[in-house]
Amino acid sequence: MSSTGIEKLKISNFRSYKILELSFESNSTVVYGKNGVGKTNLLEAISLLYPGKGIRRSNFSDMINISHNFPWKVEALCRKNNNLFEIETSSDGKGRAVRVDGKKVPQNNLSSALKIIWFLPPMDRIWLETSKDRRKFLDRMVFSLDINHAKRCAQYEKLLRDRNRLLKDRIEDSSWYLAIEKKMAILGFEIDSYRRDFVEKLNTVLKEKNNYFPQIILKLKDDPIESKEIFLENLINQRVQDLASSRTNFGPHSDDLQGFYLEKEIDTKYCSTGEQKLSIISIILSNAKLIKEQHQVSPILLLDEITAHLDEVRKENLFSELLSLESQFFISGTEVGIFNSLSTKAKFLELGENKKFVA
Ligand SMILES: Nc1ncnc2c1ncn2[C@@H]1O[C@H](COP(=O)(O)OP(=O)(O)OP(=O)(O)O)[C@@H](O)[C@H]1O
Ligand SMILES: [Mg+2]
Repeated sequence: MSSTGIEKLKISNFRSYKILELSFESNSTVVYGKNGVGKTNLLEAISLLYPGKGIRRSNFSDMINISHNFPWKVEALCRKNNNLFEIETSSDGKGRAVRVDGKKVPQNNLSSALKIIWFLPPMDRIWLETSKDRRKFLDRMVFSLDINHAKRCAQYEKLLRDRNRLLKDRIEDSSWYLAIEKKMAILGFEIDSYRRDFVEKLNTVLKEKNNYFPQIILKLKDDPIESKEIFLENLINQRVQDLASSRTNFGPHSDDLQGFYLEKEIDTKYCSTGEQKLSIISIILSNAKLIKEQHQVSPILLLDEITAHLDEVRKENLFSELLSLESQFFISGTEVGIFNSLSTKAKFLELGENKKFVA
């Protein structure tokens, strides 16, 4: 087993589970079972061992088991570079509490404990979704390398809302704007720089020859923000135009992530459904490699229904890539047959009404 991962897991009152206890002796776990048996719920519970709202980005209150109105809890015994530690996270529906080795800590501390990245079926369509979805996708990857990125983005978003409120209220006094814009300029420049730095690093990994998956070149739609001073100047000069439209028209909040599918020489948004999926898999696998390279920690991968739309060769390539990453991974699907070639390498976990794992 790799030196970082989850060894034991206990889930209580979470979604369809009253109690679920599992131990993972293997790096690789195949989670299978019919529609609605709780595969995604299990992956979602694991994703809460990382900062944020989990893979579905649901409200914590929706995660409480509807027939047992108690707080939900996810407990895990984890290993990082051969040191064992415990994570416990729970919520009564409002915020969520996090403990590491029994000590209450801010949830952001989880990202220095474990790295978790995921694929969910809706991500297939990321190139066709809104630029906001793509920025979120990118910012989450930036966060996987730099734990301050989420805070930076949240603070910028708050300032943006404050500025937009002034614009909507038709405030013209420049001193109100300047106080906000000075802070926006610092954070906006930082967000842009960290995104660009990440995209450059990821493009280097995406270029590596040993990758079975298509080569994708990522870029940001807007020109780089050269400095915080220039961004501040832009914000000040834009005010009249922004007042007319009641919104801030330029900044990292309106940028977009674009992909170029090198083999076909087309923008990823014009690719077929399968090709779009391959491009996302390529990006996710490269993100995992980058985390390993930069943090010397293998990230845990949660892969929900990732094999749908993949042809046989691509599917086998995916399994080989996953095994060669030497990261702990959890892969789900409805049919066990899809995972035949993993039968000697993975632990198979069947979920279903009569299975002992399910409450
Ligand atoms: N808060 C909750 N309390 C109880 N049950 C819930 C709650 N939230 C969701 N569920 C139920 O959990 C069940 C399992 O959902 P889940 O999404 O994990 O299924 P799945 O195995 O991934 O299915 P599929 O193959 O269709 O993706 C669903 O029937 C859903 O209605
Ligand atoms: Mg599911």
